[in-house]
Amino acid sequence: SIVILDFGSQYNQLIARRVREMGVYAEVVPYFEPLDKIMARKPKGIILSGGPASVYLEGAPTIDKALYDQGIPVLGICYGMQLTTQLLGGTVERADKQEFGKAELNIDDKESPFYEAVPDLNQVWMSHGDHVTKLADGFVQIAHTDSCIAAAANYERNIFCVQYHPEVTHSTFGTQMLKNFVFEVAKCEKNWSMGNYIEQTVKDIKEKVGNKKVLLGLSGGVDSSVAAMLIHKAIGDQLICIFVDTGLLRKDEAKNVMDIYGEHFHMNIKCVDAEARFLEKLKGVADPESKRKIIGHEFIEVFNEEASKLTDVDFLAQGTIYPDVIESQSVKGPSVTIKSHHNVGGLPEDMHFQLLEPLRELFKDEVRAVGREMGIPDHMIDRHPFPGPGLGIRILGDVDKEKADILREADAIFIEELRNAGLYQKVSQAFVVLLPVKSVGVMGDERTYEYTAVLRSADTIDFMTATWSRLPYDFLDRVSNRIINEVKGINRLTYDISSKPPATIEWE
Ligand code: XMP
Repeated sequence: SIVILDFGSQYNQLIARRVREMGVYAEVVPYFEPLDKIMARKPKGIILSGGPASVYLEGAPTIDKALYDQGIPVLGICYGMQLTTQLLGGTVERADKQEFGKAELNIDDKESPFYEAVPDLNQVWMSHGDHVTKLADGFVQIAHTDSCIAAAANYERNIFCVQYHPEVTHSTFGTQMLKNFVFEVAKCEKNWSMGNYIEQTVKDIKEKVGNKKVLLGLSGGVDSSVAAMLIHKAIGDQLICIFVDTGLLRKDEAKNVMDIYGEHFHMNIKCVDAEARFLEKLKGVADPESKRKIIGHEFIEVFNEEASKLTDVDFLAQGTIYPDVIESQSVKGPSVTIKSHHNVGGLPEDMHFQLLEPLRELFKDEVRAVGREMGIPDHMIDRHPFPGPGLGIRILGDVDKEKADILREADAIFIEELRNAGLYQKVSQAFVVLLPVKSVGVMGDERTYEYTAVLRSADTIDFMTATWSRLPYDFLDRVSNRIINEVKGINRLTYDISSKPPATIEWE
């Protein structure tokens, strides 16, 4: 496998994903993990990620120099290059000006295994304020740009360093370079595939669980569904799923989930109709954070009540995925809370269960691949994310059943049209928002006075920043006609053209 030491770069997960896409297992660990622990992972290669710090400043993240003496090939990227250079006796200085963006890479050592099948001139992505001014002993420059030593190698010790970011797509041959490191230098074998993963995980679950019972909160989302499929394959009816219909779900959601996972895959699912409870608790509450708290709290109540009806359950399964794991071990400082995200299914820790998290090692696209391989239909696997509080935060202001029903209809039309037009997969997240605003309209000869709804569609890679989708006018026109004509209660539709930041994707 490849171990990636995380120095806080926003790209560290990307490096791991690139390597895994090559069929090689890669894991991200914090830079301060002790050397013996790193070595216990038996890496065939180690990648040092980029990071925001400056190596020459007091307290900058560093590693045990002995890492370079383990006979394991090392690739330092950006901060990783600077750190390697400094630790091994070279010099790193502040550059006159920050370099950010595309740059032309000139390869100096055309025989380097790192540049196999890479043209002598190619485009790479730069993002740095510091640079190497003197290489460490034993290193040779293997590529440059107009402004810096772009890559260096110590061939004797199998250490490679690059100032640019091969992991981002703007580095045209970046993937090839990473491939060269993984296969030519580190001599990894391809043995990471979702087929293997399913087989191994099912075996592990069987061993761990034995004849005990497992409880899982099934939300219908990708993660909990794929987790359920894996566990179900391993232990069948020893898995008990609880699906809570909060009354704040998308149109026909409960029915879909029961049809697919209950009827078709024969899972043992208890569907709890809790609509009345949730709506009662939400009555008259307009503040977004209060609504989130109420919904989160009520969910736990319902779940606990159901769980307490069951006897001898030892395990609680969760759909935790690898980005959550990396995030929780993150070397970055805490960030401000804009919205108190809670996941329905995020359960209290005082429940006395052992945790079962079969997706802990997987990235989202890998979770999807596992789900597909296990036969979950595409339309359930390729879905956009849906927030835990559901329609509770898409109905602005206070929530009631009438509004939820109106919103469900409108949202279903928008999604159906996106799918029909082949646009659903092109955008990252799309939905309808219902405003607590009524306006005057005319239908036939009648005056109407009804709600205003908003179409929201965002394009994003990481949901941290996003732009509004440039949906075609005639498409918007079709959606508008359908929603206003077919959904009683909406007579005006608008399209949200705000990006994040400064707006957010959801309206609350
Ligand atoms: P924002 O609105 O913060 O959303 O730009 C970013 C992503 O997070 C989702 N989101 C939530 N997910 N509970 C969740 O599970 C929440 O309370 C919540 N609020 C926002 C949102 O749908 C988008 O994908």
